[in-house]
Amino acid sequence: TRRVAILISGGGSNMVSLVESMRAPGHPAAPVLVLANDPAAGGLEKARALGVATACVDHRPFGKDREAFEAQLLEALDAAAPDLICLAGFMRVLTPFFVEKWAGRMLNIHPSLLPKYKGLNTHARAIEAGDAQAGCSVHEVTAELDGGPILGQARVPILPGDTPGALAARILPMEHRLYPEVLRRYAAGDRTPVLLP
Ligand code: GAR
Repeated sequence: TRRVAILISGGGSNMVSLVESMRAPGHPAAPVLVLANDPAAGGLEKARALGVATACVDHRPFGKDREAFEAQLLEALDAAAPDLICLAGFMRVLTPFFVEKWAGRMLNIHPSLLPKYKGLNTHARAIEAGDAQAGCSVHEVTAELDGGPILGQARVPILPGDTPGALAARILPMEHRLYPEVLRRYAAGDRTPVLLP
């Protein structure tokens, strides 16, 4: 069984979908830690309710010293000895110091059809551009922000009059389908891209 740590910053709905998916009989992975960078992250309470160990490394005391923050993250991870990391709404950019240690063992979900709209405000940018479709992508994390190999994507239409919030609400349930499916394959060594719906 592959041991999975999930990193979150907020509500953790993707974390919940990953944890629940790993409870399926015969699943090749199991959650061993939910780690947040914000003690107020709502996902921490959800993880505890699901019976998953939690930890928090508050990034704020570290100021601009990203490597010192990341060193603490690495320490918290070491204690749980994960094989894989899933970033799930983790909103801190990770530097090469961290990423290189987890190269080929770390996934992220991003709410756009990568390579479009790396970074923030993806939904507003897709609407602003007049795109007909938006969606989400799961990719392997490399030192290039939102730039690693794509392992799966799900698409939704952009509708007339869409707001960023309405579009985000249409994409999120697709995230909850896509990420567990990619993780299940990835944990079993299968990198065939997942395309939804
Ligand atoms: C999700 O939409 C995820 O794709 C996005 O944050 C949300 C977290 O929701 N991630 C990013 O924007 C990464 N840059 P959740 O906490 O309910 O899973």
